[in-house]
Amino acid sequence: MQFEDFQHKLQVVLGMKKEGIYSLSDRDHKLRLSDALFCAEDIVRNRKFFVAIQKALQNLGDEVVVIDAGAGTGVLGIMTLIHGAKHCTFIEENPYTMELCKQVVESFGYTHRSDFLLWDATNINLKGEYNLLVSETIRSDFQSEDFHHIISHLKPYLREDAIIIPERFEMMLTETKTGKSYTQYLSSYKGISGLDLQDLSWEVEVQGRVYLYDDVCIDSGDCVSFFNAARLYVES
Ligand SMILES: C[S@@+](CC[C@H](N)C(=O)[O-])C[C@H]1O[C@@H](n2cnc3c(N)ncnc32)[C@H](O)[C@@H]1O
Repeated sequence: MQFEDFQHKLQVVLGMKKEGIYSLSDRDHKLRLSDALFCAEDIVRNRKFFVAIQKALQNLGDEVVVIDAGAGTGVLGIMTLIHGAKHCTFIEENPYTMELCKQVVESFGYTHRSDFLLWDATNINLKGEYNLLVSETIRSDFQSEDFHHIISHLKPYLREDAIIIPERFEMMLTETKTGKSYTQYLSSYKGISGLDLQDLSWEVEVQGRVYLYDDVCIDSGDCVSFFNAARLYVES
């Protein structure tokens, strides 16, 4: 399946299912379903993930077993199944989102190659070994979402040769008051922790580039739902 066909089908499926989503009382969860839906509708972001996942699958060969941690509407896991993954375990903490995820996966005809776990991916127990982990649980600042906790927790379930998407981040931190700046590199393979803010103080602007896989990357501002420039307030 080509990206355009995937995105068109996704839009049609989501269009049929989204009634009532904006009035749900789901603020107490990791992310509201309406926000996960917003991500799924971001064509620029989706296209990049589609290409990165295709490349990863080509490099992994047959028998690819996937974890989609923070699955949202299931888009990334579905991409892995489209590109030939044998099985995908979708983990999602918001029950409303998980319900929609199941329906979307079913619409694509992949339920028989999927498991759905309604759980927090930072403390879940899994069975088996996996060789592809996808997790789009990050905004820009490495502080407010669970990405690094998820990667650290799930790494023991990955095989030696497993691929993690996104694979690394390049962040430019600039102190807005003085213009002082530095670049920080973070790798999802190393179980990254939060940003090291060194001796910066006051207000810091964060901009960067995320390498999804190989040469496929997204810069701050490239798309609306992922990895946009953020401002942080640092304790001095
Ligand atoms: C930004 S959305 C992205 C969804 C989807 N992967 C995509 O790319 O469109 C992140 C999703 O991860 C879920 N999430 C965040 N932290 C989580 C955690 N610790 N355990 C399980 N789900 C989590 C949120 O509920 C949300 O649905």
